Amino acid sequence: MSQQQSVHTTTWPQRHRETFGELAVWLKALKLESPTVLEVGPGAATRLLSRHIRAGEGQDLSWWANRLRAGLRNLDGLLRRLPWTALYSYEPMELRDVLPSGSKLIVADISTRVIEAIREQSPDVEARVFDFSARAFDRPVDVVVCLCVLVRAAEGNKMFSNLYHSLKPGGLFVIDNRSRSNFGTGDLPLERLSSQVWRKPGP
Ligand SMILES: C[S@@+](CC[C@H](N)C(=O)[O-])C[C@H]1O[C@@H](n2cnc3c(N)ncnc32)[C@H](O)[C@@H]1O
Repeated sequence: MSQQQSVHTTTWPQRHRETFGELAVWLKALKLESPTVLEVGPGAATRLLSRHIRAGEGQDLSWWANRLRAGLRNLDGLLRRLPWTALYSYEPMELRDVLPSGSKLIVADISTRVIEAIREQSPDVEARVFDFSARAFDRPVDVVVCLCVLVRAAEGNKMFSNLYHSLKPGGLFVIDNRSRSNFGTGDLPLERLSSQVWRKPGP
């Protein structure tokens, strides 16, 4: 199955709630009231199981709830291989809920199936099939959100650089700590604002 057709590991609802909350705080503090936000690699679950996969961090769930969720995620991974299975992507909807009302949300993923699902879920979100290992986005944005993508990607270094160059000077980069420390370099400086929110130097 090609990368454009496949959808990687199953995510779960509200996986990044805390980080999205941090982003909302920083947008307010920096008075970014109508930012253009580019979300990269939201992933998706099958629509059939998406309502049954539990939210929450593993340590907050009981042993049984964790086992059940792991089982559902495995089953979801199998069902997702069937190309006609409908998908549901949690992240863009959860991110949209915390953004200021004047924001523009763009979602990009290499998988055509993820992008088709997002277009169907929410026609007001601009959803694009895009490969960030090949190039930076067409126009620089105020915020890039890319969580738990690079650590599983074949070309993490190239992707990090292309994401960085998709950001305006002074823009916010929301990235998981593992990706930041594995692929970030001194040539691409970032100032840490909070746990997973960084700022590109600029005006
Ligand atoms: C592991 S999922 C991450 C899901 C979600 N962000 C999370 O934290 O649970 C990785 C996602 O990144 C996408 N992806 C992988 N390589 C990519 C690339 N080069 N350009 C754009 N998206 C990519 C995959 O299609 C998939 O939807």
